Amino acid sequence: MTIIVTGGAGFIGSNFIFHMLDSHPDYRIICLDKLTYAGNLSTLESVMDKENFRFVKADICDRDAVYKLFEEEHPDMVVNFAAESHVDRSIEDPEVFLRTNIIGTAVLMDACRKYGITRYHQVSTDEVYGDLPLDRPDLFFTEQTPIHTSSPYSSSKASADLLVLAYHRTYGLPVTISRCSNNYGPYHFPEKLIPLMIANALNDKPLPVYGEGKNVRDWLYVEDHCKAIDLIIHNGKVGEVYNVGGHNEKQNIDIVRIICKELGKSEDLITFVTDRKGHDMRYAIDPTKIHNELGWLPETKFADGIKRTIKWYLDNKEWWENIISGEYQDYYEKMYKDR
Ligand SMILES: NC(=O)c1ccc[n+]([C@@H]2O[C@H](COP(=O)([O-])OP(=O)(O)OC[C@H]3O[C@@H](n4cnc5c(N)ncnc54)[C@H](O)[C@@H]3O)[C@@H](O)[C@H]2O)c1
Repeated sequence: MTIIVTGGAGFIGSNFIFHMLDSHPDYRIICLDKLTYAGNLSTLESVMDKENFRFVKADICDRDAVYKLFEEEHPDMVVNFAAESHVDRSIEDPEVFLRTNIIGTAVLMDACRKYGITRYHQVSTDEVYGDLPLDRPDLFFTEQTPIHTSSPYSSSKASADLLVLAYHRTYGLPVTISRCSNNYGPYHFPEKLIPLMIANALNDKPLPVYGEGKNVRDWLYVEDHCKAIDLIIHNGKVGEVYNVGGHNEKQNIDIVRIICKELGKSEDLITFVTDRKGHDMRYAIDPTKIHNELGWLPETKFADGIKRTIKWYLDNKEWWENIISGEYQDYYEKMYKDR
């Protein structure tokens, strides 16, 4: 079995590669990644020399490069993590999101059609469903919830999902889609909430929280997401969408408070900044379908997962300190300086 994992130098893709190499040592895993600001080859250092692993630097929108890789490797499956993934960046500059997240998905699926494949899996997000009101804790996103996006990021992901389903119906491409809630864990780029707060707290820098911090996210430990995708690509029904989430809703402000407590830092570091435009209030996944059909359940409780994550950031300071420089630093200044 040969699997092309796109975006494998990013947060979830790298964790998925580690999971697959551990759980299926007889598989060949090819990582295709453009190494944008979010891709970090040092993340894959521990597997680079494995015989059944190959890294290829390429853009999923580059049709020639993608077709060449298919001709060389004859993959059985493609799991597409490659994406522009940061909502704030999509608000600043939507175009690259449309290019990578939509056109890139089409190029990958065209290659699958041309060369044949047993499965194309699209890693999507619960953000395609929009948001839920804070005062209706009884409501959850199911696979039947209408697409109702808020940001250029979520709109580009939803567009890709529609395209994936259209390729299934029109060309019979064997596809599956997973829509997951917010992930946390090792190798999370330090512009996202949890790693940003850990890094800033460790450096005694202000902890910028949007609005009043009341927005609710449904947090899932990244390894549980990887296990869900592993199950879907092997046992999931072709043409189906699976929601992935752990019924673990937390307000952003509570996450920041937990991090302060775990690190022994004062909550005085918390600073409330102007809210994100169009900020979604609450995400909450109903994972009944993946549980009933594939037997998936999250294994890591938030209380354990957040401790493990903080320990990882303490033990791997060099990894994130190397990132907090250069382009990222400029971007950080631009986003937070005048708020
Ligand atoms: N992080 C979350 O909480 C979360 C939740 C649900 C779904 N998702 C989805 O999971 C996927 C992975 O998210 P992540 O948080 O790991 O993202 P990330 O930003 O950490 O990583 C994205 C990776 O894709 C690569 N990439 C970007 N553009 C590319 C291109 N044109 N060609 C090839 N590679 C390219 C980057 O170099 C990077 O390695 C995304 O599709 C995202 O929408 C993320």
